[in-house]
Amino acid sequence: MTVKPTVLQELPVDLERERLPRHVAVIMDGNGRWAKRRGQPRIMGHRRGVDVLKDLLRCCRDWGIQALTAYAFSTENWGRPSEEVEFLMTLFERVLRRELREMVQENVQIRFVGNLQALPQSLQEEIARSVEATQHNQSIRFTVATNYGGRQEILQACRAIATQVQQGLLQPEQIDEAIFERHLYTTGICDPDLLIRTSGEMRLSNFLLWQMAYAELYVTDTLWPDFDRAAFHQALTAYQQRDRRFGKV
Ligand code: IPE
Ligand code: IPE
Ligand code: MG
Repeated sequence: MTVKPTVLQELPVDLERERLPRHVAVIMDGNGRWAKRRGQPRIMGHRRGVDVLKDLLRCCRDWGIQALTAYAFSTENWGRPSEEVEFLMTLFERVLRRELREMVQENVQIRFVGNLQALPQSLQEEIARSVEATQHNQSIRFTVATNYGGRQEILQACRAIATQVQQGLLQPEQIDEAIFERHLYTTGICDPDLLIRTSGEMRLSNFLLWQMAYAELYVTDTLWPDFDRAAFHQALTAYQQRDRRFGKV
């Protein structure tokens, strides 16, 4: 397979480079509904969703956004029919294997957040391979939330910190935001500035609960498989019109 060199797409002129979000997070929702509207099985929506994510990643990189985090599978998604869960696990693995070379070439750093130990062994291996191969890349930090739950992330941080206290390595009054963040899966990644959720649902669905404290929320009715560059451009335009006060005046 030959890898096509990609042409860098310029940032649209109406967007201000200095006011772009540093970190964009996406809840990629609506794959099933997209497929259903076409009379297709839900998995067709997931398949198409991968292409959309790939283009968004490239778009973020082209436009100078430093970090993209995508919600791929929640701790609650195990409750779906087993055929769908199995399809998704196989899809993640296949896509990682297929895209690794291009991610390396395009200087993308990939990492994963979530309880990865509960994923199928072969997927864990593919994840480890891709993280390793891209760890020094610098064009964009791409984080995939897989078997991720915000509450579960907070709990595992609490357990780790409690263990340190029990061992006498830390005093309870020393626990501050910085120490807490060091125990989250997302340690080292800045908080999202902009959260985009597709398909019109106005909820977080257990995504990055701690990190989202001051994110700007943007919900679009567009279903994830239809979320193209024009739709992303619209989200960024809305973001640039926001007044981020962070509790000040
Ligand atoms: C999001 O699309 C993808 C995953 C949760 C893996 P959905 O599968 O939730 O699609 P809808 O919301 O049922 O349309
Ligand atoms: C959130 O979507 C999880 C992912 C996009 C991976 P869901 O479709 O699972 O969320 P709910 O059920 O609508 O809250
Ligand atoms: Mg959904």
